[in-house]
This record gives sequence, structure tokens and C-alpha cells, in this order.
Amino acid sequence: MIRLKSREQIEAIRKAGKIIAEIFEDARDWAKPSVSALELDGWIADYIRKKGGKSAFKGYRGYPAETCISINEEVVHGIPSSRKLAEGDIVGVDIGVKIDGYYADGAFTFPVGHTSSKGRRLLEVSRCALYEGIAQIRSGNRIGDISSAIQRYAEGHGYSVVRTLFGHGIGEFLHEDPIIPNFGQEERGEKLKEGMVLAIEPMINEGGSEVTVLPNKWTVVTKDASLSAHFEHTVAILDGKVKILTSLLLDEREYLGG
Ligand code: MF3
Ligand code: CO
Repeated sequence: MIRLKSREQIEAIRKAGKIIAEIFEDARDWAKPSVSALELDGWIADYIRKKGGKSAFKGYRGYPAETCISINEEVVHGIPSSRKLAEGDIVGVDIGVKIDGYYADGAFTFPVGHTSSKGRRLLEVSRCALYEGIAQIRSGNRIGDISSAIQRYAEGHGYSVVRTLFGHGIGEFLHEDPIIPNFGQEERGEKLKEGMVLAIEPMINEGGSEVTVLPNKWTVVTKDASLSAHFEHTVAILDGKVKILTSLLLDEREYLGG
């Protein structure tokens, strides 16, 4: 069952999304060699708390940390540890915020210091794949239009998409219907409608699409140990158009339609 949101509810989700957007504005400065994932996790948790929110991940199905931090061949759900980031790593940071009863979810993958050109290209293509998906979001299109745009872009650049983890509806809960695969066929699936709020989150691998879960039962890694990148935005359909709720590049009057 898809929970359509009112303009007021979308505004509340935007409040959560704005905290995530602000963190990502600064996070690129934190993602430096010799900083540990656990330190990064602590800074983000402090920022969320200072803004009056809380982590949407901590305790979710027993998840033990405030954020997910996934390095290199880790795809998603990396549990932050005292392992220090190293020059050349790519580090995926995934943040969920709950505030005043509403959720937003966003992720960004950063280069740490000087990264290889193949790492930088993976980041660029993966970020663009997210925007290719978002560009399909408007009233009347379908979930499959998002999925196929992401897949076509990523595979067209020689990468593969993870097929066992998906984007999702969000807002009153961290995970709501519908599920949004990062592969599929255009003009298929549920119709996109006014009031839908969706977390779009391509996970793109340099090598094969296959993944496996580490013995910690959370961390998803690529089977072939190739690099993987993850980008995520929470978006809404308002006045028939897509509004990115986890970006600061959004005029507030425009997203509220005022
Ligand atoms: N952003 C991820 C998702 O949407 C992380 C949630 S898993 C958690 O699935 F346990 F860390 F919360
Ligand atoms: Co998500």
C-alpha cells in the first residue's frame, strides 16, 4: 500500500532531508585520510542530534550504528569501525534522519584524498545514474521508467547494478511501498502519482552485479571485490514534478510550490 503524502507531510519530510543535505555539504571535508569511519559516524550523529533529529538506522532491525559507512568493495550497510580511511579509498556514507515523526534517507560516495581515475569515473557515473532515474519522476510516468533509466545509464558505461537491494517509498516509515529496483523496463510497474515520496538509491559496481553479506550479517560487499558506489536522494512528487528533499540546491518556494 503506497502512502501518498500531503504538502504538509512533504514539508515535514523536507525538514529531515535538509539535515541530511547539510551534512553532505560538510562531509567531503571530513572524508580525509586518517579519519576513522567511527569518528565520521560520531560527527554525523552529533549534527543530527543538534538539529533535534535522530538516526533512523540505529536500532532498525538491530542495526548497531548511527549511519552506514561502506568503503571500496563494500556496497552498503557497512558498520562504522575504527578502521581509518586511506588515501585513494572511496567511502559511501548513508544517512537516515527522523524528526517530528517523519523520515528522510540519503547517501553519497566520496573519494578520500587522491583517488584513481577509475574510482573517480565510477563515482561520477553512479551519481549521474541517480539523476537519470530522478529525471524520470513526474506524474504519469511509472516506477519502471526510473529503474530502466538507471540501469541503462550504468550498464551503458560498462558497470553493473546491484539486483538484490532496492530503493523504496519513505516518509512515515523508513521503508514503505513501493520497492524501486535499479533495473527494469520502462512503462512497467506502478504509476507515479502526486504525493509519492521515494528514496532512489542506485548501487553500482565496477565489476559484476553479484554481492554477498559479511559474517557481521549487515555489510554487503561485491562478490568479485570490485569497487562499488551508492548515491541516494529522497524525492517527492508535488505539483506533478519531482522535488529533491535531500538537496540544498532547491529553492524552498519552488519545492513547496508557493
Ligand atoms: N539507506 C538504507 C536503506 O534504505 C539503510 C537502511 S538499513 C539500516 O535500506 F539498518 F541501516 F537502517
Ligand atoms: Co534507503
